[in-house]
Amino acid sequence: MKVITTVKDMQAEMIQQKANGKTIGFVPTMGYLHEGHLTLIRHARKENDLVVLSIFVNPLQFGPKEDFATYPRDFARDRALAESEKVDYIFYPETREMYPNSPSVKVIVQERTDVLCGKSRPGHFDGVATVITKLFSIVMPTRAYFGKKDAQQVAVIDGLISDFNFPVELVAVDTVREQDGLAKSSRNVNLLPEEREQATILYRSLQAAKESIANGERNSESLINLIKTMITSQSSGQIDYVEIYSYPQLKPLERLEGRVIIALAVKFTNVRLIDNLIIEVNKQ
Ligand code: PAF
Repeated sequence: MKVITTVKDMQAEMIQQKANGKTIGFVPTMGYLHEGHLTLIRHARKENDLVVLSIFVNPLQFGPKEDFATYPRDFARDRALAESEKVDYIFYPETREMYPNSPSVKVIVQERTDVLCGKSRPGHFDGVATVITKLFSIVMPTRAYFGKKDAQQVAVIDGLISDFNFPVELVAVDTVREQDGLAKSSRNVNLLPEEREQATILYRSLQAAKESIANGERNSESLINLIKTMITSQSSGQIDYVEIYSYPQLKPLERLEGRVIIALAVKFTNVRLIDNLIIEVNKQ
């Protein structure tokens, strides 16, 4: 496994590998790898000749009151994990390597951002789209792997790839869950013991909505109410949002039809959890 820290070296290496006909699976991360990342790496490993992992905590996607400075970092641990997953390259640039000057061009995301988590994080997805545009130009991947847990990020990258004609296949990988259904996240450790038990209601309420759809329910408001009632009656969590949109367009729907996302965010004492369900709904 090679660790590369400069844009120039990374591009040179990728150009060479592509000239040799190699396919490149790319997993962009901000490091501090967890099971979700390792699952993305395993998918990339299976489907490509080479796997590139980037580790870069991107300042552009953090708001002024967000945790850029304290975002967890542990390169030695990440490197060992990547090695054990047979990653071929880690791209690990410093901030000044990625942004030597204050950027003269930024990618502005016009759609898919004024809902869900984007509502409370203005500029966040512009930062994500800008760094992904740079990373795609540096790594030149055949396929790029993202987790469906961050479904809005997947929707934004889907728009980026199609609007900018990147020759990259977007692979969205299913959320990795604990045995009881709770979506895995490094933040779950911040749940108080009684909240950890209650937090399964996020997954269970999404499953209840799925069952209700299977039984013929198509009204967004009824489904949202079902989920909200379950969460408020069975946990101490405060609902941030429960929303339903077309996916990946993220347009509001009165009645469910086609591919839809049901997404929610719930605040517990020390942590805010998100989860979602993406399903195909047939017309009734
Ligand atoms: O999901 C993340 O970790 C980041 O948003 C990403 C995609 C690596 C861009 O910085």
